[in-house]
Amino acid sequence: MKVTDFEGKTVYIVGGSSGIGLSAATLLAGYGSNVFIFARGKERLEDALAKIDNSKKSGVQRSGFKQLDVTDHDQVNKVMNEAVEEFGAPDILINSQGRAYPNYFEKITYKQFDETMKVHIYGDWNTVTALLPHMKERGGYVVNVTSVLGFMGAFGYSDYCPSKYAIIGFSEVLRSELKRYGIGVSILCPPDTDTPGFKVENLTKPPETVAVSEGGGLMQPDEVAAALVQGIKKGKFFIGPGSVRVLWLAKRLVPWLVDLYMDHQVKKVRKDSTL
Ligand SMILES: NC(=O)c1ccc[n+]([C@@H]2O[C@H](COP(=O)([O-])OP(=O)(O)OC[C@H]3O[C@@H](n4cnc5c(N)ncnc54)[C@H](OP(=O)(O)O)[C@@H]3O)[C@@H](O)[C@H]2O)c1
Repeated sequence: MKVTDFEGKTVYIVGGSSGIGLSAATLLAGYGSNVFIFARGKERLEDALAKIDNSKKSGVQRSGFKQLDVTDHDQVNKVMNEAVEEFGAPDILINSQGRAYPNYFEKITYKQFDETMKVHIYGDWNTVTALLPHMKERGGYVVNVTSVLGFMGAFGYSDYCPSKYAIIGFSEVLRSELKRYGIGVSILCPPDTDTPGFKVENLTKPPETVAVSEGGGLMQPDEVAAALVQGIKKGKFFIGPGSVRVLWLAKRLVPWLVDLYMDHQVKKVRKDSTL
């Protein structure tokens, strides 16, 4: 299943007010899509909508936003049903909401673990269940944004990694089940990407985490969004921007080598650590 022409398509982007979601929103507006974004904060949604409107290819394109917290199942159902009434059913749904507060396992509270799981995997479950009844009538596409850390457990991410691994499992099932409705499914696995969310992520990173990601480089959200759009065009399940595909293959073919590298990086900074 692929979408080869984005002109006139209705796109819903959850987490579309910032970072990768916002870059995807402006890119798709430039291709002629009707783009609607969803997130919690009204101010960022308003600013993002102005950017989307500036990127539109023509005056007939529609756009808009709705405030929504993906962790709230009932609210997602209500808001998405209102959105379908107002904006029309989406041809493409992109789930790009997220957050990351890396830290030592012993410093991550149950509350943080619970919230991270709810934003990522429960969030995806909530939006897909709310919109599937509307999407299956004419087919479409779903992209769930996971991460390199959705297939690789790394130091400092004991809440984030499980939530992102879960998205891959969920998406594999959806890929198989939604084919019969003409709905394609992809996972986007970004590497470190220069977004507002990434700046927050850096605030709590233990030095070992910094060392593990050293040398991985930093992509720009526009580059990641371009890979996302190409992935939808090709109907690829796995979308790995930049060199992520190499990492994906390494993790599958030589997992011991990946572990060896990560252990080596951790060991380099462990000497002075008290935890
Ligand atoms: N940047 C990276 O290095 C990187 C790497 C790998 C994967 N990713 C993944 O890529 C996705 C986008 O990340 P980003 O870096 O672009 O993040 P970002 O700049 O922080 O943007 C996150 C978006 O998600 C929304 N959001 C957060 N919690 C939400 C909630 N409970 N309900 C609804 N919306 C919510 C935010 O708006 P509000 O806060 O206003 O709700 C915002 O629009 C995430 O899934 C992230 O895990 C990012």
